[in-house]
Amino acid sequence: MTGLLAGVVLLVAVVLALSAALILARRRLVPDLPVAVTVNDRAPFESRFGTDLLGALATHDILLPAACGGAGTCGQCRVRVRGEAIEPMPAERARLSRAERREGMHLACQIRLRGPVEVELPEALLDARGFDCTVLRARFLTSLIREIVLDAPPEVIAAVRAGAFVSLTAPPHEFGFDAIEVPERFADDWAELRGLRAATTAPVTRAYSIASTPADLARGRLVLLIRLALPPPDRPRLPPGAVSSWLFHVSEGVRIAASGPHGDFRAQDSAREMVLIGGGVGMAPLRAIIHDRLGQGAPPPISFWYGARRRDDLFYAEEFATLARQHPEFRFEVALSDPRPGDRWEGWTGFVHAALREGFLRDHPEPEACDYYLCGPPLMIAAVMGVLDEAGVPSNRIFFDDFGS
Ligand SMILES: Cc1cc2nc3c(=O)[nH]c(=O)nc-3n(C[C@H](O)[C@H](O)[C@H](O)COP(=O)(O)OP(=O)(O)OC[C@H]3O[C@@H](n4cnc5c(N)ncnc54)[C@H](O)[C@@H]3O)c2cc1C
Ligand code: FES
Repeated sequence: MTGLLAGVVLLVAVVLALSAALILARRRLVPDLPVAVTVNDRAPFESRFGTDLLGALATHDILLPAACGGAGTCGQCRVRVRGEAIEPMPAERARLSRAERREGMHLACQIRLRGPVEVELPEALLDARGFDCTVLRARFLTSLIREIVLDAPPEVIAAVRAGAFVSLTAPPHEFGFDAIEVPERFADDWAELRGLRAATTAPVTRAYSIASTPADLARGRLVLLIRLALPPPDRPRLPPGAVSSWLFHVSEGVRIAASGPHGDFRAQDSAREMVLIGGGVGMAPLRAIIHDRLGQGAPPPISFWYGARRRDDLFYAEEFATLARQHPEFRFEVALSDPRPGDRWEGWTGFVHAALREGFLRDHPEPEACDYYLCGPPLMIAAVMGVLDEAGVPSNRIFFDDFGS
């Protein structure tokens, strides 16, 4: 027994000594050298050896979209690096196609600066800025979706294109879900969530699509739809989503650090018929795009197919029904996958991809001539892609906003 104890102590001592030696060696071997970073042929700025490129750019107010906060999973912080080839990291192999990697594309969060680097970025990204906004209003739309209205500076509002998103940063926080004010009608759904706790010791940034109509933007408002990210059912002990929990907790008057607008999900500049398919908070960019196109006068035919589970999960339905009455070129269809008897549902029943196939693709003379915009849960997107493929729609007519899973 004493021998075993001595062995453990010796092992721990060896591990500690090795760790200390590694830290010392790293301090000596990783030099604190300046490294020049050039962006789009502008004057270079100076960063430090070993800094990650995403952070180096952010320090100089170049705020790339980074929904995963640098974990290498969202694939949004793409940049083209010119000059000497840099070996891609495993996260880059997973997120970038072989063709993209051949063209010198990288994930800025995965690049450590080891020498001068020349970076190419779309000019529009250089316009994205960090800003503070204030919560003007927050309300539950369904038991797990909250609408948050923010006021944002005029220059940010002016840069918003329908389909764009902003990045919001939650400060370090800790609270129990019993502190979240929930409307009476959702009290039953929330009974079992009351024991959850949200906590983070560092700021966390996530992306949220802008659902604003042109009228919202004219009043300086960013409308966001936040879905609460709950622990997966098979791992209920995991913490709930860091930023979405905090956004369910914020109230009027709270200041939020943001950046943007970002993103290239937007309506194509064409007269082709538009078909939008969404579910959950995938509603956000689609709502912005629909209002924007209908407001432009003489839009092409537009149809919006929205999938939800039951009537309680529907929101903005009256708004789209009104749009359909006002604009003969706009059609709004809802499919409920699991309506309750009390829902008295007379519309499509089943998944939205099936409704799209039956109600649109099957009888359309030329489905391959339309543009399709998809935004929703990954399973819904995969199922819709399947029926579009069956109908002969080429992939270059399909545009989708990937919120991650
Ligand atoms: C372009 C874009 C636009 C988007 N727009 C919207 C939008 O309009 N509305 C919206 O609601 N979302 C949107 N998202 C998604 C959003 O950015 C966040 O990903 C989402 O809100 C979850 O973030 P979170 O910080 O709350 O959760 P996270 O903290 O990232 O957690 C995510 C999930 O992981 C679970 N988890 C926690 N710890 C662990 C662990 N150790 N192991 C495994 N799982 C764990 C959590 O319980 C949760 O279910 C968008 C994303 C992108 C990329
Ligand atoms: S920040 Fe998400 S992949 Fe780089």
